[in-house]
Amino acid sequence: MATKGDRTIFACQTCGHQSRKWLGRCPDCGGWNTFAEERERVAPKTGSGVALRGMARREVRPRPFTEIEPQDESRELTGIDEFDRVLGGGIVPGSLVLIGGEPGIGKSTLLSQVADRLSGLYGKVLYVSGEESDRQIKLRGERLGINPAGLFLLPETSLERIFEEIDRLRPMAVILDSVQTVYSEKLESAPGSISQVREVAGQFLVLAKSIGLPVFLIGHVTKEGAIAGPKALEHIVDTVLYFEGERHHQHRILRAAKNRFGAANELGIFEMTGRGLIGVPNPSELFLGERPVGASGSVVVAAMEGTRPMLVELQALVSSSRFGTGRRTAQGVEMNRVVLLVAMLEKRLGFQLSGDDIFVNLVGGISIEEPAIDLGIVAAVTSSFRNIPLHPRTVVFGEVGLAGEVRATSHAAVRLREAARMGFERVVMPASNLTGLPEDDRVELIGVRSVTDALDAIF
Ligand code: TYD
Ligand code: MG
Repeated sequence: MATKGDRTIFACQTCGHQSRKWLGRCPDCGGWNTFAEERERVAPKTGSGVALRGMARREVRPRPFTEIEPQDESRELTGIDEFDRVLGGGIVPGSLVLIGGEPGIGKSTLLSQVADRLSGLYGKVLYVSGEESDRQIKLRGERLGINPAGLFLLPETSLERIFEEIDRLRPMAVILDSVQTVYSEKLESAPGSISQVREVAGQFLVLAKSIGLPVFLIGHVTKEGAIAGPKALEHIVDTVLYFEGERHHQHRILRAAKNRFGAANELGIFEMTGRGLIGVPNPSELFLGERPVGASGSVVVAAMEGTRPMLVELQALVSSSRFGTGRRTAQGVEMNRVVLLVAMLEKRLGFQLSGDDIFVNLVGGISIEEPAIDLGIVAAVTSSFRNIPLHPRTVVFGEVGLAGEVRATSHAAVRLREAARMGFERVVMPASNLTGLPEDDRVELIGVRSVTDALDAIF
């Protein structure tokens, strides 16, 4: 029922752009047919919606920088190493964490396991589910072999009701599965609409900050790859984690896309088993597990994801095109990088590649964006083009410039250590990274300054 002060607006369900009238195309994000009618109730001047008892608004005044006490970085560890790592070393009190992923990827499984650990270690945990009944969750729990005494389930979708129960239970952490199913009675728009999703996240932010309660919001990613109300939520929450993976692969990757309390490029790697998710402490072993030794076009690259070194296999296939002009296809690496490096090979080394189709694939369903894999792409394409395999115990890394120069990369020592640990014997790397490297007689280091040098050393 519309009262005075209500107004009808149209909101883009992808980015949250609002308009007084319906639009076919969003002027902000460019999406077609994304506008839906919503009723926005103008909030009364006083009162800030949902609040816990005894949570009266404090008056905030400017304070001298020098007098402010640093927040004690007391983080709570879940004991699930891969999860703690992605959060930046455990859970920060009062943090609001969004976990996004496609339906069926394992978000509820992961958070059930986290809830189990947290309740075992620290006390009561509330798992709010708007999607599954408490029996369904219990069933999953049995499959996971968990039966924690401190875990409370609440099948509820009303934000106001959820807050009442939080107030009553006073848990040490709250998990909301999912943010799209919960609605505030203050708004008339449907659950999952951009205004509702924003309102729910906003209210949980206030709650999290005011009583130091860590809150995990699960959000479904739509086909376009955005969490419904995506941009709208990313800037509200402290941390955004994406849970990714391919359905036919067993492993899942948890990636921090934003983190106010840690590095934003950390990865956690899990394997989905019949009894839930198990952390993979040694990703290099996983990614090199099925490497075809002695095949041309296959190269092992020492990459970094966050603070963690990872050896991955890059594959290239160069084959003459049926049509006059060759296509370039990239999976797991940036397409533009591949196009650029192939153009560089044509120009600087005189390779004739314009009539060839070139496929580049990072094995294992992960994707890596750092430029240190450039030299790997160059080596893989060359190996396939010339049909010469690499020495099987060789690792490469280095950024490649447009002039064909090989540039220094960060964390050279860490990459080397990982290569040695995995039993590799030769590392072809930027010459400018050689100075100051610790001695390691297990591996032979070959510093190169240009792509020409590098290819001479590799083949
Ligand atoms: P789920 O956590 O329900 O996904 P989401 O919450 O992201 O939608 O997990 C869905 C899939 O995971 C489902 O296909 C079954 C599978 N699964 C396992 O393989 N092992 C397990 O122990 C569990 C609980 C689920
Ligand atoms: Mg789920």
